[in-house]
Amino acid sequence: MKDLVRKLHKERRLEACEYRSLLLCEDRETIESLHEAARETAVERFGKNIYIRGLIEITNICRNDCLYCGIRKSNGNISRYMLSDEEILECCRYGYGLGFRTFVLQGGELPESADSKTVTLCRAIHGEFPDCAITLSIGERFPDSYRRFREAGATRYLLRHETHNPEHYSRLHPEGMTIGNRLHCLDILKEYGYQTGTGIMVGSPFQSADNIVEDIIYIEKFRPEMIGLGPFIPHKDTVFADYWKTTTSILPEKSHKEEGLDLTLKLISVFRLMLPDSLIPATTALATLVPDGHEKGILAGANVIMPNLSPPRVRGNYSLYDNKASSGAEAAEGLGNLKVQLERIGYNIVTDRGDFRTT
Ligand code: 5AD
Repeated sequence: MKDLVRKLHKERRLEACEYRSLLLCEDRETIESLHEAARETAVERFGKNIYIRGLIEITNICRNDCLYCGIRKSNGNISRYMLSDEEILECCRYGYGLGFRTFVLQGGELPESADSKTVTLCRAIHGEFPDCAITLSIGERFPDSYRRFREAGATRYLLRHETHNPEHYSRLHPEGMTIGNRLHCLDILKEYGYQTGTGIMVGSPFQSADNIVEDIIYIEKFRPEMIGLGPFIPHKDTVFADYWKTTTSILPEKSHKEEGLDLTLKLISVFRLMLPDSLIPATTALATLVPDGHEKGILAGANVIMPNLSPPRVRGNYSLYDNKASSGAEAAEGLGNLKVQLERIGYNIVTDRGDFRTT
């Protein structure tokens, strides 16, 4: 097994069956050697520096009805909000003062009619903070909308493909949403010059080890600049509310939670070894699953953290999954705590933009 880690480290890729073996591997020493190789690769490339991105959850209004997501349109149990441009700019001003030089605007999918508002918002942020990067994470749009956002100053876009397998995709999404369109959006984003992020939920309902292997192979081909990997966590107002209680996990003898952690960390390491220059966050979902999720993610090869910069009053309503962390070291105002957490494992926060660069 350790030979697989060495091979991945050296050749930056494996055969499908080899990825599968690594994902299913339960040997502690092999898993530790995978994380160690990935960690060393990240340190060679970035030093012990962690980039921070201020995450602003601009709206929880969504036209989509993804079966796993707490802000799906059919969830009547949350109060819907949309931040005004001025409120968003206030978040940016506050974040700028704390040292943030990237603002990630994330939100539910709004109708096309909202695109002009997004353009105005990007222009306003770009005008006031010309030294900052604007990252959008607002779902599937028309190519022309992506083009307009880009011209208005957005340079990065996050759109997880969630799962590459069409059948699996259709079990997680409502009719009308297709993996084909998702991948088309990703191709367009890349073509329009965005630094593009994709990724998956790990341990999502009905996911098999083979599905994850397909995701790895897709990402190997697509070569995104950013890779988002977070464990699936049930949300009480979705059809998957009891998923953890009523199903068994992929890895024998592991609970869903343990499996989500194990597989997420393995995938962070696999992608660090495959794409050494990529930007990989230790995600909020990982930090929600276990209290030391950030540290574990970084020690497996992650190099980005995205603290929450949203106004505290709306954070509870941006509930993608149950108990989503948004305070303490997860919050922008808790940056001091995060700094201490990272220093304990020998890492520092850096405040430069941290654009994707190849060595
Ligand atoms: N558990 C974990 N992650 C989730 N997301 C949405 N719902 C959940 C959930 N229940 C993730 C999706 C989406 C990102 C913004 O949040 O992967 O792309």
